[in-house]
Amino acid sequence: MSKRFKVWVSRPLFADVLARLEQYVDIDAEAVERVHDAQELKQRLAAVDGAIIGLADRVDAATLVGNDRLRVISNLAVGYNNLDIEALTLAGVLACNTPEVLNETTADYAWALLLAAARRVGAAERWLRAGRWRGAMRFDDWLGVDLHGRTLGILGMGRIGQAVARRASGFDMRVLYHNRSRLPAPVESVCAARWVDKAELLRESDHLVLVLPYTSESHHIIGAAELALMKRGSVLVNIARGGLVDEAALAASLREGHLAAAGLDVYEDEPLVYPELLGLEQVVLSPHLGSASADTRRNMAELAVDNVLAGLGLGPKAGRPPA
Ligand code: DGY
Repeated sequence: MSKRFKVWVSRPLFADVLARLEQYVDIDAEAVERVHDAQELKQRLAAVDGAIIGLADRVDAATLVGNDRLRVISNLAVGYNNLDIEALTLAGVLACNTPEVLNETTADYAWALLLAAARRVGAAERWLRAGRWRGAMRFDDWLGVDLHGRTLGILGMGRIGQAVARRASGFDMRVLYHNRSRLPAPVESVCAARWVDKAELLRESDHLVLVLPYTSESHHIIGAAELALMKRGSVLVNIARGGLVDEAALAASLREGHLAAAGLDVYEDEPLVYPELLGLEQVVLSPHLGSASADTRRNMAELAVDNVLAGLGLGPKAGRPPA
């Protein structure tokens, strides 16, 4: 009998999905969620032919030194800023991600944050749960920012950005977007969105959503200067990557009342949240949940398994390029 490949799974996954993987390969699957330091990651990856890993697992050239066994890394995410693609390519390791399957769920979550931030849902709930709703409430208390009839700006107009845009028609919003390349006219028309340059996007948006990949070029793409360009009383939502925003500048803008609110699902130094943001009632914070619906997380896991198998020439997609 020929030797079976071995795959390390760095995060606990659905048992039935792991069982399917195990039909083809030997597996070493983590039973509890935890962070692996660089040394452990290096050792784990040197002992397997393939790996399914998460965003917290950072793979660079140093991780791969002396590793002549690893053939494929399957990232459990559409974003892959945790992977040094150049180093992986040089080492002959195939890198895969989970595109498409999370577009709609992540777009739904962008709207959850847009609405929660604009209408102060988090702070109001905390206030209510603290037993502070006693007697009559002032008519001019808890006033939020309308979404309907306002301008939604989208920075980064890939598939998730487009899904965010399509949902805006239900709110009668004007949709502007900025992307390095302009979308083809038929796609713009389906999204009912108009391309503008970045400065105009910042100046015109009442609600701005960040949906672009994090790279060295997009690092702190929203800093003090960009926040100053945004309208007083506007709302910022980040469902992409924390490093897109200079968090100190964002906290200052919120503290000074320039931005009315923010909805954040991602942070520059996850799992740490910039301390001042934790203390600002006008910020809705969530722990990187954009893709976290039951169906979508399952679809991501299935795709990650298909990808690692295909990279090893096995499974239902053997012979076809993985994602
Ligand atoms: C992704 O897929 O990149 C998300 O941020 C993780 O859920």
